[in-house]
Amino acid sequence: MEPIYLDYNATTPVDPLVVEELLPYLREGFGNPSSSHPYGKKAKEGVETARKRVAGLLGCDPAEIVFTSGGTEANNQALIGTAMANREKGNHIITTAIEHPAVLNPLRWLEGQGFAVTYLPVDGYGLVDPQAVRQAINNKTILISVMHANNEVGTIQPLAEIGAIAREHDILLHTDAAQSVGKIPTRVDELRVDLLSIAGHKLYAPRG
Ligand SMILES: Cc1ncc(COP(=O)(O)O)c(C=O)c1O
Repeated sequence: MEPIYLDYNATTPVDPLVVEELLPYLREGFGNPSSSHPYGKKAKEGVETARKRVAGLLGCDPAEIVFTSGGTEANNQALIGTAMANREKGNHIITTAIEHPAVLNPLRWLEGQGFAVTYLPVDGYGLVDPQAVRQAINNKTILISVMHANNEVGTIQPLAEIGAIAREHDILLHTDAAQSVGKIPTRVDELRVDLLSIAGHKLYAPRG
């Protein structure tokens, strides 16, 4: 008997429409987008079109999109990049106890580099209390990272409320949206997030 694939939160098959879009770039449009010759220009055009489409999906500016190999790399870049860039302002980061290892592991690494991380608990529904986020803030807090939708139980966190608290205190808010983009509306302004990670292979793009 053929097994039935039911693990779409782990990864998805590549959509045939995505294959159609990609094929011309795998065949003739394979140039380095930084090259000035026609092969490079064609690849650059493809990258910039993709950038605009992703920005449209998230409601942000195309210049704010950074392409990565997936969720793990995006989280590493967002968390470690933000922490290191704001080191002089403070060393405290707030997160939740239920983040994916792709968030928890870079945060543990940052602890080894002198950062202090507060891991907030969640209630019986997997929800983090925005007031607990407020109470955890101190004058060294530079970053809050709370996932959008949970990968195991699907809880959707109150990001807009947390975002309002973060803005009141001038603290950056990151969200791991690997499980929400493509499934529920995920617009950066509505969620009031400064950084948001996506994993393309969870919404019908190729892995990596
Ligand atoms: C919430 C969440 N974040 C991050 C990741 C890691 O993404 P990737 O496999 O693209 O590195 C996953 C994958 O399962 C996930 O569910």
